[in-house]
Amino acid sequence: MSNIGSYEQRIKNFDWSLSEKELDYKAGDVLNIGWHCTDRICRQGKADKLALIWEGRGGKEKRYTFNDIRLATNTIGAFLRGQGIKPNERVCLFLDKVPELYLGFLGILKIGAVVQPLFSAFGDESLHVRLENAETAAVITQKKHVSKVRKIRDKLPHLRHIVVVDADPAAPLQERETAFSLEKAAPVEHLDIHPTSAETPSVLHYTSGTTGMPKGVQHVHYSLISQYLTARWVLDLRDDDIYWCTADPGWVTGTSYGIIGAWATGTTQCVLDLGFMTEAWYKFIEKHRVTVWYSAPTAIRSLMKTGEEVVKKYDLSSLRHLVSVGEPLNAEAVIWSEKVYGLPFHDSYWQTETGSIMISNYPGMKIKPGSMGRPFPGITAAVLDPNSFAPLDEPGKVGLIGLRPGWPSMMRTYWKNEETYRQKFQNGWYLTGDRARLDKDGYFWFVGRDDDVINTGGHLVSPFEVESALLEHPAVAESAVVSKPDDINMEVVKAFVALKPGHPPGADSELEIMNFIRKKLSPLAMPQEIEFVESLPKTRSGKIMRRLLHAREWGEEIGDTSSLEND
Ligand code: PRX
Repeated sequence: MSNIGSYEQRIKNFDWSLSEKELDYKAGDVLNIGWHCTDRICRQGKADKLALIWEGRGGKEKRYTFNDIRLATNTIGAFLRGQGIKPNERVCLFLDKVPELYLGFLGILKIGAVVQPLFSAFGDESLHVRLENAETAAVITQKKHVSKVRKIRDKLPHLRHIVVVDADPAAPLQERETAFSLEKAAPVEHLDIHPTSAETPSVLHYTSGTTGMPKGVQHVHYSLISQYLTARWVLDLRDDDIYWCTADPGWVTGTSYGIIGAWATGTTQCVLDLGFMTEAWYKFIEKHRVTVWYSAPTAIRSLMKTGEEVVKKYDLSSLRHLVSVGEPLNAEAVIWSEKVYGLPFHDSYWQTETGSIMISNYPGMKIKPGSMGRPFPGITAAVLDPNSFAPLDEPGKVGLIGLRPGWPSMMRTYWKNEETYRQKFQNGWYLTGDRARLDKDGYFWFVGRDDDVINTGGHLVSPFEVESALLEHPAVAESAVVSKPDDINMEVVKAFVALKPGHPPGADSELEIMNFIRKKLSPLAMPQEIEFVESLPKTRSGKIMRRLLHAREWGEEIGDTSSLEND
């Protein structure tokens, strides 16, 4: 029997106080995610239970019990406090998936500071805009990434500390840099946990929009109430599970469920600090006897591509529950996984802004392959008319996905951008920016995004950010960035570029510009293809018509072009 039991029963008279009770929380109490994920679990008699099995490159392994992670998070918290980090200041984690990323996350929360996790493959420009916007006080990083921070530190007056977790004693540290070694630091048995309350800011995740800067999504400690219960009811985490969330904590799945959901439920989780590789992944499941696996459609499609034969080489019999997030999960992927693993992937839908799973296929509930499932108990979701923002009552009609605000893990604002935050609400609904249709049984079917943001392998890329970076290249006169279809990543970035006179188009220029973006932004934002054009299609007012280029890439009807200046 799954944790959720009967979905129909659960949605009746649902109240979030049920989660509060399980977490021994009452309104007005101190609520600290760092404490809840470590000290509280130890107090439940699980101090010696394994919390983290970590595997790095070359099979290097480290294991931590709940008591170990309690001590390590105390130690990191005390170190940062000693450096003068104050409650509410932003501390950025700019790390590969090393233990310090997971433990640093909770250590920062324990002292009441705000965690800003950033993907370690970000280039200096991506890093700069996010650190500048958040007025970040400290960055915790590794020696392999410190050069990117050095490149931009002079433009960041708020950045007081650059902490290097694996500093090389032979290489001198530079201005504002401090070495911190978790292994060498004296463990701190008692740390005064900062008395954070439900509404105290906790995590600041940056996400991409169509226009403007990436937005800082501000979460609070009360998000735990949603993350805990969804981890129990959707991921179905239980005491004897070995859980593997493949997401990087640079993204919200890797924090809400790769840290908080896993440890708030006292679950043993494993982490593989390695990108996607079919056989390495199967070997990892076999070796650690993974039972619950939370992954993404791009990975599943890659596994499908490598085929069934390789599956037979590994003992994957420990698996009991599979869940997916981040992009549309094709019906074929669900059917395939049922066939080869004997278990279907359960789709789950949510966003950085929602903080926890909103719509999902629950264990025990009938799966309709290709559908995202039904709203989590306590979540009111609807398909809205795009003009009136009223729910469409006829099943099958496509509209906007709206969510009734008020669940615990909803973002509280966009950092220093209250106006954009307010624009996300219409007629009493939070607008997700996605389109879907609802069937007569109340299942949601994803149709697409309602904006130009590119979802490549589950990661959102802003065309605006890539276009701005392209313009910094000396040869680029103008550019337009759209998605193009891709078998594995669903979408990849494609750039149309008009070059300045004297810069010839060709394979060399293409490679050179691709690399420029990879280094500046990230490998994900790098265009997979650059098409050189004489000029770009524009509206009469001079706005680049991305819509037209997008339609061309996807073989869609181009629609009304009457406002085009050229074609
Ligand atoms: O467009 C939807 C897509 O990913 C967006 C949210 O991305 P992000 O904030 O980075 O968070 C990703 C992980 C929670 C959504 O607006 N998306 C997410 N899950 C699904 C999805 N699209 C289709 N099906 C899903 N299950």
